[in-house]
Amino acid sequence: IKTIGILTSGGDAPGMNAAIRAVTRSAIYNGFTVKGIYRGYDGLINDEIKTFSTENVSGIIGTGGTMLKTARSKEFMTEEGRQKAFETIQKEEIDALVVIGGNGSLTGAMNFAREFDICCIGLPGTIDNDLYGTDNTIGYDTTMNTIVECVDRIRDTAQSHERIFFIEVMGRDAGFLAQNSAIASGAEAAIIPEDSTDVDQLAQFMERGIRKSKKSCIVIVSESPKCGALYYADRVRKEFPEFDVRVSILGHLQRGGRPSARDRILASRTGCGAIEAIMQGQRNVMIGVRNNEVVYVPLSEAIRSDKPFDRKLIKVLDELSI
Ligand code: F6P
Repeated sequence: IKTIGILTSGGDAPGMNAAIRAVTRSAIYNGFTVKGIYRGYDGLINDEIKTFSTENVSGIIGTGGTMLKTARSKEFMTEEGRQKAFETIQKEEIDALVVIGGNGSLTGAMNFAREFDICCIGLPGTIDNDLYGTDNTIGYDTTMNTIVECVDRIRDTAQSHERIFFIEVMGRDAGFLAQNSAIASGAEAAIIPEDSTDVDQLAQFMERGIRKSKKSCIVIVSESPKCGALYYADRVRKEFPEFDVRVSILGHLQRGGRPSARDRILASRTGCGAIEAIMQGQRNVMIGVRNNEVVYVPLSEAIRSDKPFDRKLIKVLDELSI
């Protein structure tokens, strides 16, 4: 392997730039040529590629977003798209591909690797923390801190007006962001996909909260197309008209901002890990960190949808929200 291509794909996550920097610098340090691929898999299909030197990644460790740009490529999901991408790989003489992204992006890398027998290495880049086999993903810690800062602010106004707030956070199908940010912000409850909290449980919680004379409260709701924060707020308004209810959907502000030290370190360790893996002859693995050790997780495992969720976290929040 002489030349390594690198791309970011899917939703951007704080720390992706730190990962791009780490892969680029570690590759150059170890004698490889690095090619930056712009706009995710679309850039691979359309040959939007530039050879990187160490200067290309200067001053980016602390910046949010991704300097390589990103996309959710529809074309790469088709056989023709992947064929075109492979033609670019041949033309650019890329021998291995490092893909920084979440579930969909690593699924794409796995299929591509299988079809064209190419070495693909994944880095876990998503705020959702839903990749299997790594304790944390790049971006998760920063986003959790962003959410906690927002909730702290909302609590000021919630308490002043004695209101109930439903705050909706991202996470796609996973409740890691919602549950842990609820614990960290001292919220009264979290509604997450991993728990089957239905609206009756919510109503019980409401009554309990009132008996304990809490006049304002914060409920963190994991995003869901059918029953997000607006849905719960509506139900409470109907069933408990005495409460003053407000909704705040945090949206994409959760994806931006300077990466935390933790995310920068995770990105740097896994970025160097990707190059080490290539040098060891590893193929088609995601580089994760488990119990503080860098680990190789087969891509087919990394994309599993059943990352363990520690149910004790639900108890912790329950006990502390009395
Ligand atoms: O996967 C990251 C994520 O931010 C999810 O939490 C969210 O559901 C989704 O991406 C939003 O995607 P988009 O930015 O394409 O609307």
